[in-house]
Amino acid sequence: MSEFEEKVRDVLANPQNVGEMSDSDAVGTVGSPDCGDMLRMWLKFSEKDGKKVIDRASFQAFGCQTAIAVASMATELLKGKTAEEAKSLDATELTGELGALPPMKIHCGQLVEGALKDALAGGGSTDSPSTVSSSQTLAGDMAKPKGKIRIVPLEE
Ligand code: FES
Repeated sequence: MSEFEEKVRDVLANPQNVGEMSDSDAVGTVGSPDCGDMLRMWLKFSEKDGKKVIDRASFQAFGCQTAIAVASMATELLKGKTAEEAKSLDATELTGELGALPPMKIHCGQLVEGALKDALAGGGSTDSPSTVSSSQTLAGDMAKPKGKIRIVPLEE
């Protein structure tokens, strides 16, 4: 097992911030055109030292293990960031301690970045063909899947 795979395995043993956020201020959803995986991210803001910062972030993923591991990392490192700071983070920065993604896994990180950017843009935007928006729950969207989608259940 590569060092990267070991790190992913460690994160998946205890993924952070999994689940819907009922009191979120922003939600973003994205589907990967590469693999059909989907990820939704919720953000909650609070005031700190006169600045609006991300208080909490959570996610739900119907995607591969790498996307889940990156989302776990990303939702942790988003805490305390302003929307502007969060917007400037790209997929390579959102991976945190996982480090650089292997070439085959780069789009998994981009899935997380895409959901974050969608949430920061107001969520549910229709200007991106890969953006999926409808019901508040990702499971609701998955109940009527379009095309071939692989569902990976998350453990609580
Ligand atoms: Fe699709 Fe990783 S293989 S997000």
